[in-house]
Amino acid sequence: MVDRSVFSKLSMPCAFLDWDAFVQNVDHIAKHANGKKIRIATKSIRCVQVLKFILERNKCFEGLMCYNPHEADFLAEVGFDNLLLGYPTVDLEGLTKIASQIKKGKKIICMVDEKEQINLIEKIAAKNDVVFPLCIDIDMSTSFYGFHFGVRRSPIKETKDLVPLLTQILQSLNVRLEGIMGYEAQIAGVGDDAKNRFLKNKVIQYLKKKSLNEIANKRKEIVKYIEKDGYHLEFVNGGGTGSLESTSKEKVVTEVTVGSGFYAPTLFDEYRNFQYKPAIGFALPIIRKPADKLFTCTSGGFIASGAVGKEKLPTPYSPKNCKLLPLEGAGEVQTPVFYSGNEKLEIGDAILFRPSKAGEIAERFSHLFVVSQNKIIDQFSTYRGDRGCFL
Ligand SMILES: Cc1ncc(COP(=O)(O)O)c(C=O)c1O
Repeated sequence: MVDRSVFSKLSMPCAFLDWDAFVQNVDHIAKHANGKKIRIATKSIRCVQVLKFILERNKCFEGLMCYNPHEADFLAEVGFDNLLLGYPTVDLEGLTKIASQIKKGKKIICMVDEKEQINLIEKIAAKNDVVFPLCIDIDMSTSFYGFHFGVRRSPIKETKDLVPLLTQILQSLNVRLEGIMGYEAQIAGVGDDAKNRFLKNKVIQYLKKKSLNEIANKRKEIVKYIEKDGYHLEFVNGGGTGSLESTSKEKVVTEVTVGSGFYAPTLFDEYRNFQYKPAIGFALPIIRKPADKLFTCTSGGFIASGAVGKEKLPTPYSPKNCKLLPLEGAGEVQTPVFYSGNEKLEIGDAILFRPSKAGEIAERFSHLFVVSQNKIIDQFSTYRGDRGCFL
């Protein structure tokens, strides 16, 4: 665990990567790949040096899942290859950049789940005289007694939904089907071991168990359907940090996407099946002491995306026994912290926080201080530091 004193001479607020914890997470993920490839979800990293390190650390790490065509172009320019756009795009300028990267020999795969998206891609591909590799996004949500368990993504829910897309792709000279992807968010992104939520945890555990079989069968059926006439899919992608164990067990899956597990923000503390080491954090300076046990820091309001809830707030964790105030939370320019411990906190001291989600915090800082054994050993530029603002 990084000591607060490391930051006392630095300009705060600043973000940091606990290198020792991070490397342990990388190795833990590689160890649990189960013979599958791991594609890195860039949205949960947003730092070129971190991406490079992971890819070089173990052969199981192969390829990136990006979130934006301009980002894919940027990553291709700095040397990455095998980039899967995890989400459909209708950005003509972005697609044109992808076309020129494909022309230069880079493999960048676009995600589709509607004919209109393919029409657009075909147009750009024809204009630039290239063939775009495509991936079809398969909806992996499940429904129990009318309750929708999962996220709203693709309209492709069963084999019959594939027919119009497959027909269009197979008849086209400008696109080809490279793979399929199905993200079971209800397993990968929903914690089932949250503190003080016994009943909710039990319900989620039950739903997860029920949905696992359905997911595996669906993926198998879809692959069988696509490959029935001898067509070969180059990859079958599934899962995320929270489903590494179950997704990697599926025979038809060739690769699992993982992102958040490398940094292990607080939302990923709440799973029964694994425990990663907290590796990403930020340090805020105490600037005032408005009352007994209250310490106000600069900045801090880095709220994670998604449905609104307290779990999206950052968590002060060092020193121990710090809490945010319910009526103020984490503020735009300052954050008061209630501290009930015995350490003497001074103006200028650092309070350390963990973000709720992984990659978004990199948008707030131009670099990450890399800390090992309480020493700053490096400084990595984030996407923001590289002037890459992709969303
Ligand atoms: C398509 C897709 N795959 C995988 C993931 C998993 O990412 P992470 O491991 O960061 O949770 C996500 C997260 O939202 C996703 O959208």
